[in-house]
Amino acid sequence: MTFKPAQWPRKMRSQEWYGGTSRDNIYHRGWLKNQGYPDDLFDGRPVIGILNTWSELTPCNGHLRELAEKVKAGIWEAGGFPLEVPVFSASENTFRPTAMMYRNLAALAVEETMRAQPIDGAVLLVGCDKTTPSLIMGAASTDLPSIVVTGGPMLNGWFRGERVGSGTALWQMSEDIKAGKMSKEDFLEAEQAMSRSSGTCNTMGTASTMASMAEALGMALSGNAAIPGVDARRRVMAQHSGRRIVQMVKDDLKPSDVMTRDAFENAIRVNGAIGGSTNAVIHLMAIAGRVGIDLTLDDWDRLGRDIPTIVNLMPSGKYLMEEFFYAGGLPVVIKRLGEAGMLHKEALTVSGLGVWDEVKDARNWNEDVILPADKALAQQGGIAVLRGNLAPQGAVLKPSAASPSLMNHRGRAVVFEDIDDYKAKIVRDDLDIDETCVMVLKNCGPRGYPGMAEVGNMGLPPKVLKKGITDMVRISDARMSGTAYGTVVLHTSPEAARGGPLAIVRDGDMIEMDVANRRLHLDIPEAELQTRLDAWQPEDTRPASGYAQMFHDHVQGAETGADFDFLVGNRGSDVPKDSH
Ligand code: FES
Repeated sequence: MTFKPAQWPRKMRSQEWYGGTSRDNIYHRGWLKNQGYPDDLFDGRPVIGILNTWSELTPCNGHLRELAEKVKAGIWEAGGFPLEVPVFSASENTFRPTAMMYRNLAALAVEETMRAQPIDGAVLLVGCDKTTPSLIMGAASTDLPSIVVTGGPMLNGWFRGERVGSGTALWQMSEDIKAGKMSKEDFLEAEQAMSRSSGTCNTMGTASTMASMAEALGMALSGNAAIPGVDARRRVMAQHSGRRIVQMVKDDLKPSDVMTRDAFENAIRVNGAIGGSTNAVIHLMAIAGRVGIDLTLDDWDRLGRDIPTIVNLMPSGKYLMEEFFYAGGLPVVIKRLGEAGMLHKEALTVSGLGVWDEVKDARNWNEDVILPADKALAQQGGIAVLRGNLAPQGAVLKPSAASPSLMNHRGRAVVFEDIDDYKAKIVRDDLDIDETCVMVLKNCGPRGYPGMAEVGNMGLPPKVLKKGITDMVRISDARMSGTAYGTVVLHTSPEAARGGPLAIVRDGDMIEMDVANRRLHLDIPEAELQTRLDAWQPEDTRPASGYAQMFHDHVQGAETGADFDFLVGNRGSDVPKDSH
């Protein structure tokens, strides 16, 4: 931690717009005054953009306008000038073909919004899955001081005395319907219990994981991740963050000061300890690329391998985010990593302190929610990175959500060429499949789907479910919802649509998976593998125009974070002079 605060006072970049008496200064200042701002607000104080992903079509972020008012209060109190700015909001539950197709677009829009406007620092008001990484990516590429405030998770859902975990319960109940264990009427009644307050998914899904990643990276104030969306303390957190960003701007404490290699290593270990989503792998690598840090899949495997999963939350465990907050939340987990010698304690956070200073006094109030290490859900809880002739550039699996009995498995491949082929075949009684088979789904990667949808945890065939079987080995180039579970190999790279070996798997091939030895092998002779690869021809899936064409042409593979090739890196905050 070598950060040295900048001298204050000094000229802010917003003064390029609002300072002085030129025609252009009067133009920028005068027009803003139509909102009723007094002249002294333009005296050189930090102008803070509250980048708000509120949208009525992003229900997980539906309360962020109220939260923005508390952020504003904090900014005013600290002597800043808050301006709320709506930004692209990639909602997980509405965007088609998948919100992931729009993460990079949102990041691009945020980056340009920050750079092109009179903003000295930003509060990133986020929540739903993609909103968190996209805003951090955009802010990182401008490297203007920024702090993350998440909307917080929903309260627990309850149905007939049982916890209803966002997403997790939906997947479970839909499998129960197929297995004949639940009626449609009960399913519809359960729907009413799934989302009972404002906030993001209440499981340790991708939204909670990315909120935890933001905190572990040091980009949010300590304790931010777990406070429920409707808890008064969420609003207090927003106000504190508003106060803090003003001082961060004065100190010139930038994303590149916070998101160092040490910070990413801390975040990877935290992800293992919380049983976080596999989506964190892709998002953290993309964020790292924006600050010039070469984070690889091997870092995930190496750093996460010996991390026990101690947070007993769905989908890996039993409880939900509300209970995680009451137990002490993420500071307790980070403290445990520090005590185990698995934390870079000096890593700087947006508070201006090292991460250890923030968590060293945290207490665990419920040892059934945040477990002792010897009672961990999985002793090797980090993301396992598998390699072999089926995944030369890697594939990932989440051990804490998988079945121990399937971690070393050899089975006959049942192949689905794409998601439509899967949907058509999976319900057929004459599909030649049983629980020992390996389900293989192709063409669901970043370019193939397009956008890399969360379909990797494909549902099991009804005839297998009816036997009471709940898990099978599944392999794809897709992603999986952070709320999902199962022995599911994801992000297989290179993806099928780019001619990766996944593309040439055929029905009846034998596949071997050995998670302990990180091996994923297609058991056919090497010469046969090469003959099939040589014969493979790409389908012409390039869209004729528009964003979809841009996405097709520029999205990179999952193994590096699926960012656009031309967006990797930090382009700073300089802009050409005004042209009015
Ligand atoms: Fe938005 Fe889960 S769908 S947080």
